Amino acid sequence: MPRRNNALISQFIQGEERRKFKDIIKALALVIDLAEGYDAQHGYNVALSAVQLGKFIGLSVQSLRNLFYAGLLHDVGEVGFPKETDDIDYFDWQFHPYIRQHPIIGEAIVSQLPTLKESSKIIRWHHESWDGSGYPDGLKGDNIPVEAQILGLCDIFDIANSVYHNMDDLRQKLGPILKGRFSPDLLEAFRKMLNETELWVAKNFDNAAWQDLGIDSVDLAMLMDVNVDYFNLTLKTFAHVIDAKHEYTKGHSLRVGALARRIAELMNFPQEEAARIERAGFLHDAGKVGIPRCILDKPGPLSDVEYGRIKAHPGMSAALIKTVQCLSDHAGLARHHHERFDGRGYPDGLKGEQIPIGSRILAVADTYDAMTSDRAYRKGLPDKVAREEIIRYSGAMYDPDVVEAFLQIAADEISQLFTEAEKGTYLVY
Ligand SMILES: [Fe+2]
Ligand SMILES: [Fe+2]
Ligand SMILES: [Fe+2]
Ligand SMILES: [Fe+2]
Repeated sequence: MPRRNNALISQFIQGEERRKFKDIIKALALVIDLAEGYDAQHGYNVALSAVQLGKFIGLSVQSLRNLFYAGLLHDVGEVGFPKETDDIDYFDWQFHPYIRQHPIIGEAIVSQLPTLKESSKIIRWHHESWDGSGYPDGLKGDNIPVEAQILGLCDIFDIANSVYHNMDDLRQKLGPILKGRFSPDLLEAFRKMLNETELWVAKNFDNAAWQDLGIDSVDLAMLMDVNVDYFNLTLKTFAHVIDAKHEYTKGHSLRVGALARRIAELMNFPQEEAARIERAGFLHDAGKVGIPRCILDKPGPLSDVEYGRIKAHPGMSAALIKTVQCLSDHAGLARHHHERFDGRGYPDGLKGEQIPIGSRILAVADTYDAMTSDRAYRKGLPDKVAREEIIRYSGAMYDPDVVEAFLQIAADEISQLFTEAEKGTYLVY
């Protein structure tokens, strides 16, 4: 990140944008936890304790800031893992070849978020080992940035804390793992810090101590650049992470957002409203990250219980979106994307005009993409067939006005829209 003149910076900084960015990143961390099946704010815990340890050993405010975001997002590369990795014991799983990729995937994702290049490197190296036996690059000793060592240590500590409630078990398991894995100086500092103070985690978070760090002032200086729509960029990355959970929906949310926006434009919505519908499209399936893959990818018919889980996802999407203040007016759009025009949809059985128009648009865009993309149990349908289905259910499932606008978009325009939508956020899954 090039150093900028302070006077210049203040011209770019808008407190509002900065707040949005932070809110979205926090929600992204929540999504990661959900997808991982953690209920314990793991990313947040790691972020807080890493900053605490970083401060304890005297890192600069800028390093602390990079460390904080790295901590929040360090597990983002795991969201797309296949289901067989779900049941591996934490202390064995580092030997799984799939797992060894996650720091690289995490780096690829986080480096696309505005101002988080440095954080993405910390993530790349959070499994490097002091003795050179780590991954992905086998770095050794001081070649591993101290921030990455701190992140690795706090990660292990938080996992161990949640898995082994019994302190003796914890010591027995942790001892051999820490040995050789971290710099002896760092381990010593960590021990010293734990003797002196309580560890910062989400549940005992001390706001005053946080203010003292001055991290917010660094954000002021680092976030803004001209000509970049940070809000959208961040949301697109968010959409990617949501889709990664489900093997067969890569790019789905991005495509739904783009198509929904185009439909809204053809229905003469003002630009800002069309953009809002697009953003709701990016996030409409956020609630799906909490559904196990064995249900999401099941080829056969679902049991009642399984179907219940599926039906809960729009409500979960809405709940998640609501946690981000600047997005809270998108929650309703996501909640109702599976309502049907005739009132037989879910979760609320709304009918016709009761369904927000943005949700009626999303419903058509969502179906079109779901039908035309490959699934676990079938190849994607051709454009023509998908159109016929949508026409057939116009008035029953879909709003006829929306269908009419949708039909104005030719097949090649849609594929162009889709290619464009997926651009610039390519990830290495
Ligand atoms: Fe990791
Ligand atoms: Fe972790
Ligand atoms: Fe959905
Ligand atoms: Fe969807």
